Amino acid sequence: MSEGNEITPASDRLDVPRLLDVPRLLAELTLDEKAALLGGADRWHTEPIERLGIPAVMMADGPHGLRKQSPEATVLDLLVSYPATCFPPAVALASTWDGDLLHRVGVALGDECRAEGVSILLGPGVNMKRTPLCGRNFEYFSEDPLLAGSLAAAFVTGVQSRGIGVSLKHFAANNQETDRRHVSADVDERTLREIYLPAFERVVTTARPWTLMCSYNRINGVYSAENHWLLTEVLRDEWGFDGLVMSDWDAMNLRERGVAAGLDLEMPSSDGVGTRRILDAVAAGTLSEADVDRGATRVLELVNRSLPALAPGQTFDAAAHHALAREAAVESAVLLKNDGALLPLARSGGPIAVIGEFARTPRYQGAGSSRVNPTRLEDALTALREALAGAREVTFAPGFALVTDVVTHPAAAGVDAAAATAAGVPATGTPDSSLIADAVELARAAEVVVLFVGLPPSYESEGYDRAHMNLPPDQLELLAAVAAVNANVVVVLSNGAAVTVHPWQDSVRAVLEGWLLGQAGGRATADLLLGAASPSGKLAETLPLAYEHNPSIGNFPGEDGVVRYGEGLLIGYRWYDTHRLDVAYPFGHGLSYTTFAYSDLVTRVHDDGARTSVEVTCRVTNTGTRAGREIVQVYVSNPGSSVFRPEQELKGFAAVSLDAGASAEVHVTLDARAFSHWHTAASRWTLEGGSFEVRIGASSRDIRLTTALQLAGEVIVDPLAPGTLLGVWLAHPVAGDRLREILQGSTVYDDYRLWRLRENPLVRVSRMRGFPIDEHDIAALAAEVNAQTESST
Ligand code: BGC
Repeated sequence: MSEGNEITPASDRLDVPRLLDVPRLLAELTLDEKAALLGGADRWHTEPIERLGIPAVMMADGPHGLRKQSPEATVLDLLVSYPATCFPPAVALASTWDGDLLHRVGVALGDECRAEGVSILLGPGVNMKRTPLCGRNFEYFSEDPLLAGSLAAAFVTGVQSRGIGVSLKHFAANNQETDRRHVSADVDERTLREIYLPAFERVVTTARPWTLMCSYNRINGVYSAENHWLLTEVLRDEWGFDGLVMSDWDAMNLRERGVAAGLDLEMPSSDGVGTRRILDAVAAGTLSEADVDRGATRVLELVNRSLPALAPGQTFDAAAHHALAREAAVESAVLLKNDGALLPLARSGGPIAVIGEFARTPRYQGAGSSRVNPTRLEDALTALREALAGAREVTFAPGFALVTDVVTHPAAAGVDAAAATAAGVPATGTPDSSLIADAVELARAAEVVVLFVGLPPSYESEGYDRAHMNLPPDQLELLAAVAAVNANVVVVLSNGAAVTVHPWQDSVRAVLEGWLLGQAGGRATADLLLGAASPSGKLAETLPLAYEHNPSIGNFPGEDGVVRYGEGLLIGYRWYDTHRLDVAYPFGHGLSYTTFAYSDLVTRVHDDGARTSVEVTCRVTNTGTRAGREIVQVYVSNPGSSVFRPEQELKGFAAVSLDAGASAEVHVTLDARAFSHWHTAASRWTLEGGSFEVRIGASSRDIRLTTALQLAGEVIVDPLAPGTLLGVWLAHPVAGDRLREILQGSTVYDDYRLWRLRENPLVRVSRMRGFPIDEHDIAALAAEVNAQTESST
């Protein structure tokens, strides 16, 4: 297998080729060539067929920056890639709740791809944050599918507006790194449809990504890469996906099964193994040539999609992209608490002690395949010093040591020092008393302390999950020591996934959740701390009081190759809100330097029935003294539903920027899906009529306005079968009357007897003495009424 960029991408040709004539090529390609097209040529290219002028398509990671590897890079060499703008990863971008911003980030990434001759950016990832311990949570958006899907769709339309494709990943139910290449996520269909698939569905149906990347894991026992239900029935037949599906890297097991299931492209190259299996299966008659043609067609269509954007000599504006990265970072940070308005810090006054190695050595992105080689890198310490030069003294102490080696190893995560020693990697997190003593000295002398703590690179990475949610022991010891000598501590967090803040947060006055802020995070942090910008990020994931409160406990990371999604629909705030559990900070929470009042909630229902839509309007007023941006969240609750529903679910949101004293109307339209649930028996979405509550919140726990709605919905008629319960037969709008007619006059089967028998399958009742019809009659009746009700709905 060759590495790197040895294949000449179409961009390097002087004459950008004309679009391929796909039907003609399909007729001219040999079966061997078509099978070869279904696998990568190396790590990053599709197979070119020089004989017919079919060029290779180049792809590269993704998602929050371009990681185009240099030709000399090996498979494990994540560091050797061309410089590219490192935007904040998805964990941070999600906290902006700002589709417009994500679109602009997408456009910038598209331009960087064009400049590098890369046609497909491998991302974004829209997997749900089922557990805070997932090592890859920094690459994912949220615990909520609507938020993740909406933001990812904006990102995708941005990238693709530049003639560059994305690969939406990892499809699907890849919610942990432990055993990720094999584990079976055992999930009931309603949970898949309502929680784990909708973000993909939204992006596919609204942003039309060029490609999708399957996940490594199995779903209910079937590998995603071989899952016909997932890759063809759901993705193409139901959602109308018209692009190409590729495998995650080395996710392919039985290539011929993948082709039949709808997995068009195996990545990276399998050195001919996949091609051989395809050809053998066709020869044996277990795979049809039509399946091969279908995959080859999609590869050729992908080549065609990629050609127009490829031209040599394209560049991008690195300075403008850096400025955009800074803007995104400013919007990403979430102000969790700010007692007594300690923030923003005044530009004059006593010394500020900046403590924590992260102030000088920023942690700004996660580890693994998404790791970008940034064009520039700013740190918060330099930014604060520059901003306060001549006005306020800024002292610094690292407080703890960081192992900055990016080659991560789980044993280095500080949880198992013995394992670390055995593996020959340094264990992070052991307190260094002299570093702590130096920091305490500075803290004592300072008016304010800004303490930068967070997760070291070894604590979270693609490839393994975290062992716990705590900060490392050395940082916790530092925090306690500093807070003991200074009453004005501001904590700035750098972490790619939720950490436990509850044990220490009362000892500090302010907490800024910085997540991983990308290459311009340093200056963005200074902007926020000093009030050049007001924080406006809101949490896209709940911060629980303790890890043990998380709903996946007991069902994570699974055993014997299976992880059972036992909590069903109740992930994230759906769980905490339904169980009325106290949390450290709720989903959607985030403070500002100003305040907002909500009023005048009005809802207008249109088009009642299966196609209902509801327009929600309210007024937001900036009641503080400075400009700010508020994110208005719309939750829907359906307490009277006939099926279990979470306490409330996010169904819409909107952002509004307001000057001090200004006020604006905010509009959000909720479509029928916002009120529907997945009806498992009918295998479709249904809007059950009844009463709903629309709640407008500044977070899931800070509901400001509510209103009740009555929706007519649809009449849901379950199909009947002989084994359906008698009670359901009797309640059926057509069959109920037919059955009563048949039983009319029966003295044995009077109303009382029927009521007593209601929880028996009808077919069993029919075998009882004196029942007037037998199982053949019942089967015929079921077929007749099912056909009748289907045609009338
Ligand atoms: C990751 C993908 C990534 C691919 C290529 C895989 O291991 O799961 O997200 O795009 O490698 O680097």
